[in-house]
Amino acid sequence: MAKLTVSFVGGGTGGQLSLDAVAASEFYQPAALADLRPEVGTQLGKKYPELQTFTDFREMFQACPTNIVCVSTYPPSHELVTLEALKLPLKAILVEKPLGHTVASGRRILEAVKQRNIPMAVPHGLMVKRCPLQIIERTKNGEIGELKLVEIQSPAWDILNAGIHWLNFAVNLNGRSPAHSVLAACDKTTRTFRDGMQVETVAVTYVQMVNGVRIAMQTGDTIRSNGRRDGTTFRIIGTAGQIEFWGWHPDYFLINPEHPEGKLIAPAEEGTSTHQRHLENLLPMIDSGAPDYSLPESSLMALEICEAAYLSARHGVEVKFPLNQFEIPPPNDWEPGQPYFSGQGGRDGRKLP
Ligand SMILES: NC(=O)c1ccc[n+]([C@@H]2O[C@H](COP(=O)([O-])OP(=O)(O)OC[C@H]3O[C@@H](n4cnc5c(N)ncnc54)[C@H](O)[C@@H]3O)[C@@H](O)[C@H]2O)c1
Repeated sequence: MAKLTVSFVGGGTGGQLSLDAVAASEFYQPAALADLRPEVGTQLGKKYPELQTFTDFREMFQACPTNIVCVSTYPPSHELVTLEALKLPLKAILVEKPLGHTVASGRRILEAVKQRNIPMAVPHGLMVKRCPLQIIERTKNGEIGELKLVEIQSPAWDILNAGIHWLNFAVNLNGRSPAHSVLAACDKTTRTFRDGMQVETVAVTYVQMVNGVRIAMQTGDTIRSNGRRDGTTFRIIGTAGQIEFWGWHPDYFLINPEHPEGKLIAPAEEGTSTHQRHLENLLPMIDSGAPDYSLPESSLMALEICEAAYLSARHGVEVKFPLNQFEIPPPNDWEPGQPYFSGQGGRDGRKLP
């Protein structure tokens, strides 16, 4: 069978993960890459001489239409590039996480892809790795009892750029139950930016899911994790046990009635990269003509939580879902922690409805 041709828009970290994955796959071949920075094309053209390189993605689409396009620019341009790519006779598309810089943009992207009825990859690495998939399976099987809390500590990263991976995992761990509300606070004193976005210095995001499960995530430049290892740490708490794991690490620590002292478990892992797995997962969907959008949908759910967190922090309000129906309440002069004097109005917290 002839290999499917692939082009790439954006040749940075994300684009190169897709490019290397395509080059390593027996089912795909890299054909063209567009990056605004000519030096990126020059450098990657040396590594992959078969690659035609461009600085303008529209020019590339015209000169070298491919079976698959990988959209690997910064989130604010994902929509523009994707909508343009969808004009090609594509067999499938990959759009990097976060789908868009806003939920509305991400939703427009997903809807446009659905309209074309072609498979779509959103390469959340955790969703194709043995370790997190096994944790999801164990949790679903009740091996830590009933899930209650997912605590996430994410040093040196922010809600949107890495947090979306962690939240997407947490959403899937919780059986894709919808979110009920998000309350978040962001310190922004250092004016940190990352991956084309302004982000928080440190933040805390507290999510209540409709089924009662809580997700509590601490992100930011200076936070420290308090687990068995440094770096990203998840603590998954159930009524009969808990799991600690560390994002991209290949193992996790399980404590439950079967392992009361705890056990470090390292599932056998595949040799291929996670981007290659995501790209190759498109193949059966291309063959069957029946795309499964559950992963892009859960990515959008995670993006909704990210957006709700930034909205909550900006306005100091609890953001209730569904997000598209939420209206920001007008600001008021109430100062929690200040003395209350009769005549100030308000609501008696001893007499809640
Ligand atoms: N799934 C993952 O594990 C993973 C890992 C890394 C990055 N990403 C995602 O990839 C995306 C890009 O991030 P990055 O880390 O690669 O950034 P990066 O800065 O390393 O690369 C982005 C590249 O896109 C190019 N670019 C920007 N706008 C363009 C346009 N309109 N046309 C052509 N080229 C354009 C830039 O010149 C740059 O070379 C983000 O959405 C990021 O979240 C995902």
